[in-house]
Amino acid sequence: MPRLDAKVALITGAASGIGRVAAELFAAEGARVVIADVVEADGSAAVDAITRAGGHAAFVRADVSKTEDAAAMVRFAVETFGGLHVLYNNAGILPPDDAGTLATPDDTWDRVMAVNLKGVWLGCKHGIPALLESGGGAIVNVSSLVALMGSAVPQIAYTASKGGVLAMTRELAVEYSRRGIRANTLCPGPIDTPLMAELMADPQWAARRLVHIPMGRPGQAAEIAKAALFLASDESSFMTGATLVVDGGITAAYVTPE
Ligand code: NAI
Repeated sequence: MPRLDAKVALITGAASGIGRVAAELFAAEGARVVIADVVEADGSAAVDAITRAGGHAAFVRADVSKTEDAAAMVRFAVETFGGLHVLYNNAGILPPDDAGTLATPDDTWDRVMAVNLKGVWLGCKHGIPALLESGGGAIVNVSSLVALMGSAVPQIAYTASKGGVLAMTRELAVEYSRRGIRANTLCPGPIDTPLMAELMADPQWAARRLVHIPMGRPGQAAEIAKAALFLASDESSFMTGATLVVDGGITAAYVTPE
């Protein structure tokens, strides 16, 4: 039986990157998927790809940092597919000028917090009533390895926002633990997305980072999507408030192999 049979899954930031791969995987596992994103063309292309493969998906334009958009994306999911069972708050940004503590501009800090942290909260604020209405469900909130470990190549606002996602998710998991909603945090390490591929093309940049990954390579989007699928499905039915780290061994390492 498909692992998300008859479930409705809303994935933010699913027009590209890890979210898009997850949308295709969730649809292949039987979910009716709502793709919420700010980039309409990519979102529609993702829907087309899922439909061509025999799945069910729909796109809604939503900026997760805006409360009315977050409310509308949830309404869209319920009106289009009849409920909500999985809320995967994946959308996130990392602007190039998010850097060190002293260098990061104030408005960059505010924007990163608005999308990465407030956006996840707004998804939960508007999504939880729909999950309750549908008889309960699973929330997957995306944090990062940097919520757990500091880096000498800082992205201070991003790191702070991801730390907030981790702490917030634990709390809302406890808050809803007896009302049929599970909430877990996914902490990916470096993943081979188009942005990363561009950075990895610089041998110095690549060498500085790869040395810290015991497995010696970045992860693939599908490897995160599969972890998200586990947290979204009933296979993780006794997990809530947990942190799933998918990082090629980075957080386990003191010294990495030669
Ligand atoms: P990506 O940049 O490839 O995709 C992000 C998606 O979010 C895009 O489709 C974008 O249009 C959308 N988006 C951006 N702002 C939005 C907004 N305000 N409202 C709605 N959608 C918005 O990113 P990627 O690499 O797929 O990352 C997905 C998540 O995983 C993010 O939360 C990111 O922080 C996290 N992550 C990624 C890692 C990596 O190495 N790629 C490592 C650790 C965490």
